[in-house]
Amino acid sequence: MSTAEQPDDGWDQSADPWIRLMAKGDPNRVFLLDGAMLDLCGAVHGLDVIDVGCGEGRFCRMLAKRGAHMTGIDPTAKLIAEAKRRQPDAVFHEAKAEALPVADASMGLVVSYLSLLDIPDYKTAINEMMRVLKPGGRCVIANQNGFATASTKYWARDEDNNKLHWTMDNYSTERPCKAEWAGISVINWHRPMSAYMSAFLHAGFVLESFDEPVPKAHVPEAPDLFSTNRRVPIFCTMVWRVPAK
Ligand SMILES: C[S@@+](CC[C@H](N)C(=O)[O-])C[C@H]1O[C@@H](n2cnc3c(N)ncnc32)[C@H](O)[C@@H]1O
Repeated sequence: MSTAEQPDDGWDQSADPWIRLMAKGDPNRVFLLDGAMLDLCGAVHGLDVIDVGCGEGRFCRMLAKRGAHMTGIDPTAKLIAEAKRRQPDAVFHEAKAEALPVADASMGLVVSYLSLLDIPDYKTAINEMMRVLKPGGRCVIANQNGFATASTKYWARDEDNNKLHWTMDNYSTERPCKAEWAGISVINWHRPMSAYMSAFLHAGFVLESFDEPVPKAHVPEAPDLFSTNRRVPIFCTMVWRVPAK
């Protein structure tokens, strides 16, 4: 899809509420995905890492604390400005995943933390991830599962508002879908799992790990997290490796 054809994805107008939400702490990230993503990234000290769709830069800051040399890219100007303000010693570019502003084979690790579903041309983006990685380099991904993005009204509920079952339809059809929460209103993309898997395989990546993380125990600060994700794990994590030459 050309830039001219792309509809406004809502991120410019949603930047301020997004920054506020991240400052407050998103329970899915804080209590479920951060630990999983850091474990999957492994030892990053001295590694050149690019965070694709870095938002206001929270995961860049977390990896930089562990010694990574961070580059963050995001097309939303306000989010990149906030990332730069909070981490002046890292490199940030206002750019899209479909055209990464870094040289071929220059990165040891690519991170995409809940950004694949925001990227309109995910196939080009995944090819770009392959282009910028060194041989043996890795791509660490967190994304929403297709049954989450294909949901029609999340949970069907009874008259007392108890959750009955997860709702979902048209799983196989790729399409944009509106996501609205906490004052944020953006266009995400629903794609079945096979679309992402095929794109990574087609780009030449080898799958190293795949998981659907669920909280190991109740989280008092986020009581819904355990019940929701144990019943329907709405996120997946993946590690894809570039074959060594
Ligand atoms: C849900 S946010 C995640 C931000 C960050 N990774 C985090 O976890 O805090 C999705 C991000 O994808 C970005 N985005 C939208 N279209 C993109 C594109 N074409 N290329 C790269 N990032 C994009 C948005 O600006 C937004 O910052």
